[in-house]
Amino acid sequence: MYVHGGSCVSCHGISGKGGVPIMMSNVIPPDITYETLTSGDKHADEHEEHPPYTDETIKIAIRGGIDPAGEEVDYIMPKWDMSDSDLDDLIEYLKTL
Ligand code: HEC
Repeated sequence: MYVHGGSCVSCHGISGKGGVPIMMSNVIPPDITYETLTSGDKHADEHEEHPPYTDETIKIAIRGGIDPAGEEVDYIMPKWDMSDSDLDDLIEYLKTL
């Protein structure tokens, strides 16, 4: 998980809880712990509300930059070219945060 953890951490924070302000912008990356993404609770997100994530929609968000409501996530969030097995590992990792 070193590679994934390292790159996600720089924006979403060491525990995946977001809140690391990005230089030259006022976008605060959201909490991406698995529990927060998949719970129905409203979480800090500057955008319209979207349905809770599932494993599948988290993968779409990471690879394609589209949230469960079909909206594009902010352009600051990179789109990741990952294999399915890397994505599966990543989701498992988010569950441990
Ligand atoms: C350059 C900074 C940056 C990096 C690196 C980054 N993100 Fe993000 N991420 C963001 C921002 C900013 C958003 C908010 C986009 C929005 O709200 O439209 C976001 C949104 C997300 C979302 C959607 C959250 C939601 O509530 O809709 C997920 C899931 C996510 N990131 C996962 C990851 C993962 C996993 C990695 C590592 C592979 C990663 N991000 C790396 C900046 C980053």
